[in-house]
Amino acid sequence: MKNLIERIKKLKEEKNAIILAHSYQNIEIDEVADFVGDSLYLSKQAEKTNAGIIVFAGVYFMAQTAKIISPDKKVLLPNLSAGCLMADMINHEQMVNFKKNYPEIPVVCYINSTAEVKAECDICCTSSNAVDIVKSLNTNKVLFVPDANLGSWVEKQLEGVEVITYNGNCPVHHGVQIEDIKKARQTYPDAKILIHPECKPEVSELGDYVGSTSGIIDYVRASSHKKFVIVTEKGVVDRLKRDYPDREFILIKNNMLCESMKLTTLEEIWKSLEYEINEINIDENIRKLSYNCIERMLKVSV
Ligand code: 13P
Ligand code: SF4
Repeated sequence: MKNLIERIKKLKEEKNAIILAHSYQNIEIDEVADFVGDSLYLSKQAEKTNAGIIVFAGVYFMAQTAKIISPDKKVLLPNLSAGCLMADMINHEQMVNFKKNYPEIPVVCYINSTAEVKAECDICCTSSNAVDIVKSLNTNKVLFVPDANLGSWVEKQLEGVEVITYNGNCPVHHGVQIEDIKKARQTYPDAKILIHPECKPEVSELGDYVGSTSGIIDYVRASSHKKFVIVTEKGVVDRLKRDYPDREFILIKNNMLCESMKLTTLEEIWKSLEYEINEINIDENIRKLSYNCIERMLKVSV
């Protein structure tokens, strides 16, 4: 493994490439990553970088977002089968039909969606800025796709805004139940419970903190607490245990695993960079339209 890590680092230098890794990735990928974080943070790195090649250790919509933002760069996704179950719950046709039912209402699109879906929306958001993005529209009604849980969570945070949601969700987070949180409170009364807003809103409501993957990590960094129950994908717990060995982190359930995220390996990263394969390409018309939606978000969420 050490040898492979050295080879990837050397290739990055030779080819002026960077590697962006989501916090749900297999933890050994951090050894070669230039930036590790949540969707918003990684999108901003894709926007800022001067590198010619971006290797995206994440899932398809994330690599696609990097390409939308940086069309002149070569964007590689080491394993092309790494999709997102939530993003796949709405295609272009379903998006168009959803909008038809609610003409004239602005559409907010969670970043976990395809370029074709983003192209039909007014503004993009991530889990860390969704409330601010909806607020920035200054309206009392929005459509929100595809995550019904995040959309409903946003509605609860804002007075006088109706959020009409599409019926999508992330099965990894949607599977967490109110009983799981209540049980965790009983078993670990001295722990803080930190929850990703892709969980059902009635579950999120029971947390001490609700936020994105980076938000959860930042909360731990700023806290003097010693024990935390983490309600998101296992990769976040793996990193917290590595970075804070003197504290205790409990994953809410053993099955909090995003299988797509775990498809990327160091071997595949090396292969995609060495041979410059698994490149993401997007039709230019779709790219421009989806860029408007992301650019608008990046302007609000500096
Ligand atoms: P973050 O924006 O918090 O990284 O979430 C992305 C994601 O896919 C969570 O399931
Ligand atoms: Fe998609 Fe869920 Fe995996 Fe996040 S955890 S990438 S929303 S399937």
